[in-house]
Amino acid sequence: MAATCVIGLQWGDEAKGKLVDLLAPRHDVVVRYQGGANAGHTVVSGKEVYKLHHVPSGILSSNITNVIAPGVVIEPNMLIKELEGLEGRGINPRRNLMISDRAHVVMPWHMLEDRAINKTVVSGESIGTTNRGIGPCYRDKVGRTHAMRMADLISPNLPDRIREIVDSKRVLLSSIASPEDMAELDAGRITELCQRWATSLGPMIKDTTYFLHDQLDAGKKLLMEGAQGSLLDIDHGTYPFVTSSNASGVGVCSGSGVPPRWIDRMIGVAKAYSTRVGGGPFPTELLDETGQKIREIGREYGTTTGRPRRCGWFDAVAVRYTARLSGANYLSLMMLDVLSYFDELKVCVAYELDGERTDRLPSQADALRRCKPIYETLPGWSKDVSYVRSLDQFPANARRYIDRISELISVPVGVLSVGPDREQTIFLI
Ligand code: GDP
Ligand code: IMO
Ligand code: MG
Repeated sequence: MAATCVIGLQWGDEAKGKLVDLLAPRHDVVVRYQGGANAGHTVVSGKEVYKLHHVPSGILSSNITNVIAPGVVIEPNMLIKELEGLEGRGINPRRNLMISDRAHVVMPWHMLEDRAINKTVVSGESIGTTNRGIGPCYRDKVGRTHAMRMADLISPNLPDRIREIVDSKRVLLSSIASPEDMAELDAGRITELCQRWATSLGPMIKDTTYFLHDQLDAGKKLLMEGAQGSLLDIDHGTYPFVTSSNASGVGVCSGSGVPPRWIDRMIGVAKAYSTRVGGGPFPTELLDETGQKIREIGREYGTTTGRPRRCGWFDAVAVRYTARLSGANYLSLMMLDVLSYFDELKVCVAYELDGERTDRLPSQADALRRCKPIYETLPGWSKDVSYVRSLDQFPANARRYIDRISELISVPVGVLSVGPDREQTIFLI
């Protein structure tokens, strides 16, 4: 095995962080390769709960290198706070963390721009971003002219580069930014800020692409940690209600610089139900007591923004699509404990779209919004499964639910999770 990938198959928050932390000791390097501080990955270790935004979820394992690869967009203030938070809890993340010199920097103007346009309605609804500057930073990356990479922070040309960009940004943003926000766009102050970032992060900024290639040539094992989820993929998700990077399996290679021939295992992670944060169509959303019950039992509140997550039944149409898109060869099915106390459970097996039955996810958000879920009802198991530690300990109805999901999405189960703790995991791979 050269590289294993952990990919979210829904709209994010599938518990990728938990799985990466558990798989990390079987690997030599953990790689975050897209997204930025919009991600919030939770790792629970005994009584300690870690919420990671940029730092790969392998950080708690010793003897592992953690890499933030070129495809990530980094907000240095937040990354430094994250590192300090870990240091305050006795972990030394700087010892085994590498940051790609190619990764882009989320600058103050990106945060400002995200805040200013977040409420704009697109396709009938606002996207409801995390306000972490993600879209504006990726936009500048693609545009190139106003982009800042981590290498620029440690370049002697930094003051000139900042002045050039700030001059343009002041003109470009004057129509959307408030006077207070405009006052923040000061080249001198931003240069000083960047110099502080460079002092703190500079020693970790490296060419990670050569490092990963050398590791692969030496027979080392990589674990690729996806952020967000496949339905939020910029090209293949529920556009425009998506994030700005390739959050499905197809983004692993472009974001990390690891070529496809080294990828040999894709683990698709899904909750046993569905959640979504922010705007956009969500056919199986439950706006009733059942949705509220899932939210409360599953503590479905955003790791990054604290927003209540929208909750609904498992959508096998959407996950069948993302499992194929991401090439999942194993399913890691999480949060089974949350469904312990329901008399019956529903799984969406098809949609009704404009009077026709379809088992395909429409490519257009407007069409997805018109889709009505066609449900199959399965009996609940009315028993707490959070104590289950092996497949044969699950109640028969829970086995039936797991098997049916696996069958509907045509992917075998590799991992089952019955709680946030490490021990609450059943590995079949
Ligand atoms: P990520 O972004 O995919 O890493 O997921 P988040 O960390 O945003 O959200 C997952 C949440 O569920 C975290 O609070 C985890 O501690 C928690 N969690 C993980 N697995 C399970 C599980 O099997 N059952 C329950 N109840 N919670 C879980
Ligand atoms: P993890 O890695 C859940 C959602 C936002 C919004 C949309 C665009 O923890 O699973 P952005 O700030 O990226 O421009 O917001 O994407 N979103 C997430 N939802 N989990 C995430 O990350 C997310 N990252 C972004 O809520 O709807
Ligand atoms: Mg999350």
